[in-house]
Amino acid sequence: MAVLRDDFLWGGATAANQLEGAWDVDGKGPSVPDMCTGGSIKDPKCVTTSIHPDRRYPSHEAIDFYHRYEDDIALFAEMGFKCFRMSINWTRIFPSGTEEEPNEKGLAFYDRVFACCKKYGIEPLVTISHYELPYGLVEKYNGWEGREVIECFLRYCRVIFDRYQNVVKYWLTFNEINSGTTPLGAVLSTGTIRGFEGPASMVPDRRQERFQALHHMFLASALAVRYARDHYPHFRIGSMNIMTTAYPLTPNPDDVIATQLHNNMMIWFCSDVQVRGAYPFYTGRFFEENGIVIKKEEGDDEILRQGTVDFYACSYYMSNCITAKEERGGRVGNIIKGVPNPYLQASDWGWQIDPQGLRYSLNEIYARYQIPVMVVENGLGAYDAREEDGMVHDTYRIDYLRRHIEQMKEAVRDGVDLIGYTPWGCIDIVSASTGEMAKRYGFIYVNKFDDGSGDLSRERKESFYWYKKVIETNGEVL
Ligand code: BG6
Repeated sequence: MAVLRDDFLWGGATAANQLEGAWDVDGKGPSVPDMCTGGSIKDPKCVTTSIHPDRRYPSHEAIDFYHRYEDDIALFAEMGFKCFRMSINWTRIFPSGTEEEPNEKGLAFYDRVFACCKKYGIEPLVTISHYELPYGLVEKYNGWEGREVIECFLRYCRVIFDRYQNVVKYWLTFNEINSGTTPLGAVLSTGTIRGFEGPASMVPDRRQERFQALHHMFLASALAVRYARDHYPHFRIGSMNIMTTAYPLTPNPDDVIATQLHNNMMIWFCSDVQVRGAYPFYTGRFFEENGIVIKKEEGDDEILRQGTVDFYACSYYMSNCITAKEERGGRVGNIIKGVPNPYLQASDWGWQIDPQGLRYSLNEIYARYQIPVMVVENGLGAYDAREEDGMVHDTYRIDYLRRHIEQMKEAVRDGVDLIGYTPWGCIDIVSASTGEMAKRYGFIYVNKFDDGSGDLSRERKESFYWYKKVIETNGEVL
């Protein structure tokens, strides 16, 4: 008997701004990523307050999924996908975020995408806001710092819930909501960057704004859940978090306590609110010691209590270590950072590869919440090159994924209720952290390069055939 459940949701994951392109087509407005230039690991991507004609903005064309979605979804179907994690681009529906009426052409695009998924029996898993905040809301309200954004988000949710009620069942309100606890989260998620122009990595660390913004995001998510419960009880709505497991660098109790404090605020805080419906006990001291004061209105606590999620979802790429001492050896990580682990090897971008950390994390998550869990991002960003036969032989990617799936199965044997797995960037897309195409994750190679060249044609990589077999055998043949 297979280890994984028969209805296991095998698939792949993407985000609208990283693949759609067509950034100003059919009435779409600019979102934060549309204001971000391309970069690389050496040369950080920059946020601009207006579009500079001499600079490159990778989201503007991305991989042109907007015009090629039919072919791309057909390739996903060929691999046997049961599920496709994608996001709706908020600014296709409400171009500046504040309009009263939605943009019909934007809605019609997702009608077509969902119809195409349906044709192949692929279940969409939709992230409502995946690092795509309307730039208009940044300018007007400093992003989620403004309480007004809650209503803008709810208007957007009501429209898409009503429109796609029969074709989408699984939703995530925010991508990696806990990124808002980190400085970079201001660019990616909370949008608390009004007037900021410069390298994303240099964005000022304004915690008060970000934590206030997070409070508004919690409320918005809870109210969206409540609306869905009242109108569409068949929906399943999840909390989505970055799971960068942190280990103490040494058994020194100072390191152990530092790790616990780190994990509390960076890893668990947001999901504790979204799954359990209240601010956790440890936030009191953290806010006090960091001079953070959350402005709450009467009734907020009740909203959070009533709007808890149905399942927990996370990205998992790597783990890191925490030390109480002065940091040594530089910081590593995907948004949530720590110090390097001497027992692990890292990708070319310094992300430490730790398949067992996935088993460990899944057990921790399930022990804490006892609700279904889904891994909605995992994968290896790598420099791929086509070889003489024209194919990318990405055995390193296969190896990474195989080792993680093995550990996922271990977690299921441990008793974790794991319902799905959608590896990141199932087709090569623009990197979120660096804004480059060179960091590829896909099973499908996209002929597009950072200097703007490339005809956008698609090619199956070796991992494409491998993953097809994995799905076919429900994870038994790895
Ligand atoms: C996650 C994001 O943090 O990591 C994705 O949800 C992102 O949007 C992914 O693309 C991989 O990160 P990167 O920077 O390699 O694209």
